[in-house]
Amino acid sequence: MINKPITAILIGAGFRGRISYGSYGLKYPDRLKFIAVAEPDSRKRDLFQKEHNISNSNVFKSWQDILDPSVGKIADTAFICTQDRMHYQPAIKSLEMGYDLLLEKPISPIFEECNHISNLAQEKNRIVQVCYVLRFTDFFKKLKEIIDSGVIGDIIDYDHSENVSYWHFGHSFVRGQYKKKDESSPLILAKSCHDLDIMYWLIGEKPLTVQSKGFLSFYRPENAPKNAPKRCTDGCTHEKTCPWYAPRLYLSGEPLIRIGFHANSRFLRFLTSMIINHRNLMVFLSKYVKKLEPFLNWKDFPTTSLTTDLTYEGKMKALREGPWGKCIFKTGNDVVDHQIVTYTFPNGIVGTLRITGLSDLEGREFRIFGTKGVIRAHFRANEELIKITDFLTTRTKVVFNKGLSAGGHGGGDFGLLDSFVKVINGELTPEQAGTTNIQGALESHIMAFTGEEARISGKTLTIDEYRN
Ligand SMILES: NC(=O)c1ccc[n+]([C@@H]2O[C@H](COP(=O)([O-])OP(=O)(O)OC[C@H]3O[C@@H](n4cnc5c(N)ncnc54)[C@H](O)[C@@H]3O)[C@@H](O)[C@H]2O)c1
Repeated sequence: MINKPITAILIGAGFRGRISYGSYGLKYPDRLKFIAVAEPDSRKRDLFQKEHNISNSNVFKSWQDILDPSVGKIADTAFICTQDRMHYQPAIKSLEMGYDLLLEKPISPIFEECNHISNLAQEKNRIVQVCYVLRFTDFFKKLKEIIDSGVIGDIIDYDHSENVSYWHFGHSFVRGQYKKKDESSPLILAKSCHDLDIMYWLIGEKPLTVQSKGFLSFYRPENAPKNAPKRCTDGCTHEKTCPWYAPRLYLSGEPLIRIGFHANSRFLRFLTSMIINHRNLMVFLSKYVKKLEPFLNWKDFPTTSLTTDLTYEGKMKALREGPWGKCIFKTGNDVVDHQIVTYTFPNGIVGTLRITGLSDLEGREFRIFGTKGVIRAHFRANEELIKITDFLTTRTKVVFNKGLSAGGHGGGDFGLLDSFVKVINGELTPEQAGTTNIQGALESHIMAFTGEEARISGKTLTIDEYRN
């Protein structure tokens, strides 16, 4: 059966909308076609319009305009990729207009709003795919398959760490959009509703109680080095000793290039080392070897969050004027920089999530203790590995091993879209496609809301009380 591409309107042409999902439409025009866009930032709007060849009549400045009744329903689906506190209203409006939705996570930082979207989707019989991209990676599919196969017996103790590297935490949760709880979401929801969804999915039960501890201990004004100015670009004398010195992070893309130090390939490790340690020589060589240029003038994440003008001047302007050039200790942030949450599940299972904003490597780590054996696994940008140790034989087997991962979230971004497209064009049912529909995604939100409440109150909370 040959299906036509599904059509979509994009609400919010920022990092996720334009880069993560827009790129899928460009790569697979036979599967997904963006036919309209709503975005207040004219540079991003124009870029998206050009990239997807959208007619002028289908370009709008905001979600209110694109969802105006005078425009009507113009595509199969609406992609809602605005910031956390701007999901609810466009989601409700587009469901009312009959769109199926691809909705960025978290659904909303307000529980009642999550419930309302979920109820309306059911009432209108519409699909709402929440962007839990991790479930669509080979790594997590394998982890689920192993647990469901029973090789480690029943899970008793589940230990999950979300290690956010020092630079990524600084970028998103200290300098960036998620630095203030009341303007976005608490850390446990913003960063880890994904992780809680994975915990819930792998354990396969709803949690009963929750406890939590967490603090903003480090990224605080009193920890700034002596005489540090408000901005790195104001002649900070700590350039050489501060890992968060903004021009290093954003002009050279050093954080992502450093991941290459851990690559399996000897050549990549050598290249990384040359770029970091012998920059002038590499700049000279790049005049002759054009393939080196992208490594020396970084035009990828995290720099793409700063500006769409990725020239040297454009990036410097963004650092001088925007939030990402501020001293990491003086940004006005208030979200915690580390938190531990412990849930109990039926049959005495305990699940713990640790989130830290001071990691070297970026990625998730797991120790899953069962009645017959143990899984040790990690999902990092530079390596995805799953090992199983069996109690009886005491043997450890590596059952999954991948090096540097290709694609956003280890292939999860595109995996999620593959599944969404197949569901919308009728090739698969939502169950066959393993979609993370809104009703299923509510559970991880309940876990996050109660986890945050438990942290603030210092109490053990019974989750059913909240659920009901
Ligand atoms: N699924 C994942 O793995 C994942 C990863 C990162 C972020 N996210 C979530 O995705 C969402 C978007 O994140 P992002 O990094 O792309 O943010 P972003 O700030 O880059 O993009 C949001 C865009 O919405 C636009 N916007 C603002 N007001 C608007 C309006 N009235 N109408 C239309 N557009 C409007 C902004 O101008 C901006 O371009 C957030 O909720 C975030 O938490 C999900």
